[in-house]
Amino acid sequence: MEKILTKNIETENSHRISVYMESGGYEAWKKVLKEMSPEEVTDIVKESGLRGRGGAGFPAGLKWSFVPKVDKPKYLVCNADESEPGTFKDRLLLEKDPHMMLEGIVIASYAIKANTAFVYIRGEFANQTVLLLEAIQEMKEKGLLGKNILSSGYDLEILVTRGAGAYICGEETALLTSLEGKRGYPKIKPPFPAVEGYLRSPTIVNNVETLCCVPHIINNGTDWFKSIGTEKSSGPKLYCVSGHVRNPGVFELPMGVPLKELIFDHAGGILHNRKLKAVIPGGSSTPVLTESEIDINMDFDSVAAAGSMLGSAGIIVMDENTDMVDACYNLSKFYAHETCGQCTPCREGVPWMKTILGRITNGKGRNRDINLLLDICKSIEKRTICPFGDAAVAPVKSYIEKFREEFDYYIEHKKSMIQKNVKSLDAVN
Ligand SMILES: Cc1cc2nc3c(=O)[nH]c(=O)nc-3n(C[C@H](O)[C@H](O)[C@H](O)COP(=O)(O)O)c2cc1C
Ligand code: SF4
Repeated sequence: MEKILTKNIETENSHRISVYMESGGYEAWKKVLKEMSPEEVTDIVKESGLRGRGGAGFPAGLKWSFVPKVDKPKYLVCNADESEPGTFKDRLLLEKDPHMMLEGIVIASYAIKANTAFVYIRGEFANQTVLLLEAIQEMKEKGLLGKNILSSGYDLEILVTRGAGAYICGEETALLTSLEGKRGYPKIKPPFPAVEGYLRSPTIVNNVETLCCVPHIINNGTDWFKSIGTEKSSGPKLYCVSGHVRNPGVFELPMGVPLKELIFDHAGGILHNRKLKAVIPGGSSTPVLTESEIDINMDFDSVAAAGSMLGSAGIIVMDENTDMVDACYNLSKFYAHETCGQCTPCREGVPWMKTILGRITNGKGRNRDINLLLDICKSIEKRTICPFGDAAVAPVKSYIEKFREEFDYYIEHKKSMIQKNVKSLDAVN
């Protein structure tokens, strides 16, 4: 597939506006301002079938159309908090092509009639924040942002806010609370942010990659966008592949690419000629798949049909040497650290799961521990304010369901079942 979202990343100074404009950058923005009404922009994005790339896959144009026609300010927020373990695609876009994202932001803001947009950027992305601020300045100097943009009568400012290292602030309602200057606590939905978000005004939150698709849809049309990917998951997609592969990285391919093609062709196959054991398909919050379950296509519906989620397309590959109990414990440490503490089942249950998994891996597991873990999962699932509780439960439940014998072995023998299959150096590449 011809590269779309990553077409500029190999070009020197790809983050500069001059490079972006040489390759057709901001033509979509000029076209929108000159020729299109906000409603027309929303309709085109709706018709393109673009689904959000932040995790849930909600149709972007449909979300924009939920903004009520009320006499309140509207806001557009670009979610650049990227913190899901295994996910590192937005970082690439921010670093290599911030203007593509900014063009998506200005077009989306116009579509929902916002005069203020925010980029909520992960605190650790310090260099990317500097590049972003410079890019915004470059836009202003070219008259592409600010008051009466290109004499259209439309005004827009883009403000940048840095997160402070909390995973939960990637969840849209927590993000908006944090943006308001408060502690980043999620809120119960409804009301959805499109109706009542930042400062209780209509707010659209979209992921970096979602917004990056928008200028291409305006430039090339909906039929072109729909010709890439599958019927229900259209367009290009950035897949992040990490773990035990020879060639980890971000790969731009159509929605619906076979998972095996991603792992064995693009990411070079399994390190050290070992066997593949398990794959997390969509970031750490998505249920793990076993080797026999990975003959699937990477689009929203196909991964859901396999019992997991495309999520943020953070694919983590684990080889035959992986101790699945230890891998599960590792993830549980992350979730126990990141619970915001607002709801009891999550605040108490998630650290408790970590403690139990820790004692199992330390050879101190008790016979009832697995049932206890599954019981705790039940007490958390669907009983919390935000989806973080379910996200923390998904790995534990799926690891136990699919690798139960490893858990049982740990408890019975006080050690891991995994005999490390270390091949001779000749086989190592
Ligand atoms: C715990 C949690 C963390 C999340 N982190 C992110 C994130 O880092 N980046 C992101 O774009 N969406 C994240 N999301 C999803 C957002 O809540 C929201 O759905 C998304 O930003 C909407 O954008 P989209 O429609 O373009 O996908 C997270 C959701 C949850 C439940
Ligand atoms: S589920 Fe967890 S992270 Fe979400 S609001 Fe409740 S305590 Fe906070």
